[in-house]
Amino acid sequence: MVLMKVFVTRKIPEMGLEILRREFELEINPYDRVLSKEEIIKGLKGKDGLLCLLTDPIDVDVINSETKLKMIASYAVGYNNIDVKAATKRGIPVSNTPGVLTDATSDMAWALLFSVARRIVEADKFTRAGKFKGWAPMLMHGQDVTDKTLGVVGAGRIGTAFALKSKGFNMNVLYVDEKINETLEKEVNATKVTFGELLKKSDFVSLHVPFVPSTHHLIGEKELKMMKKNTVLINTSRGPVVDEQALILALKEKRIFGAGLDVYEHEPEIAEELKKLDNAIIQPHSASATIETRTKMAVMAAENMVEGLKGKVPNNCVNMEVFKVR
Ligand code: GLV
Ligand code: GLV
Repeated sequence: MVLMKVFVTRKIPEMGLEILRREFELEINPYDRVLSKEEIIKGLKGKDGLLCLLTDPIDVDVINSETKLKMIASYAVGYNNIDVKAATKRGIPVSNTPGVLTDATSDMAWALLFSVARRIVEADKFTRAGKFKGWAPMLMHGQDVTDKTLGVVGAGRIGTAFALKSKGFNMNVLYVDEKINETLEKEVNATKVTFGELLKKSDFVSLHVPFVPSTHHLIGEKELKMMKKNTVLINTSRGPVVDEQALILALKEKRIFGAGLDVYEHEPEIAEELKKLDNAIIQPHSASATIETRTKMAVMAAENMVEGLKGKVPNNCVNMEVFKVR
């Protein structure tokens, strides 16, 4: 029996690769780096399936480069890097990994929130540098978290999990979303407000929206100016949701208290000025990076690939239209 062939654009946790190896012939990017678009096209030659990452530009050229291509399984929940329309046009299902990274990502948003509020990174550097000369009444004042107002922008899976985790801190939870979120309203007494109201009232603003044209620079100069001076902004969604230059200016001028960022507008590039700011904590897009979660993502992506290549509907298909038109 001739096995179908799958191209994996970068090594993922072994448990996912094992599932794929049982069913397919694999070609895995041999380098520990992101492949260029040309390299992806080259790797995709003669392959039936593509297992890709959020760092891969899977555009119309890549999708149309191999006529055998029948399935695209991404190892991520966000799929703004994939031209889903182009895939749909060719009848190729695209899958993502929702759900399994909800806790890891919302945990990271909390880790960032506390780290910025309590100046953890700055204080650690200070202490290591030998600057700690004993307890001091005016040293490292941060922001209270308990009893404050939490603003959740986007109440999908991750935003909801993030907001629910505020339970122990007795917070006033505000959220913006297209829909009423009954779980949040019931569990943490959350209130659905307008975006403007959320920005004006929140002590912490955490972003949990996908990156689509309408969320580009959702937080820009105007929005930053609406925030309070003690506000902490957290972004674990996608970089371009925030106007990075406007944020740098607001942080420099201390118009807001600080920012905790896991993602960047021009990833992997990070503005030099951002790296110099003490009131910004910057992470290497690692919100879902726990051993357990990355393993679950690998298994999920692999299972989606198996289903897709066997002609079934992948569990986490993002373009169900391909099955309706068949
Ligand atoms: C991470 O950013 C993801 O979308 O999985
Ligand atoms: C993504 O997983 C979301 O819906 O928040």
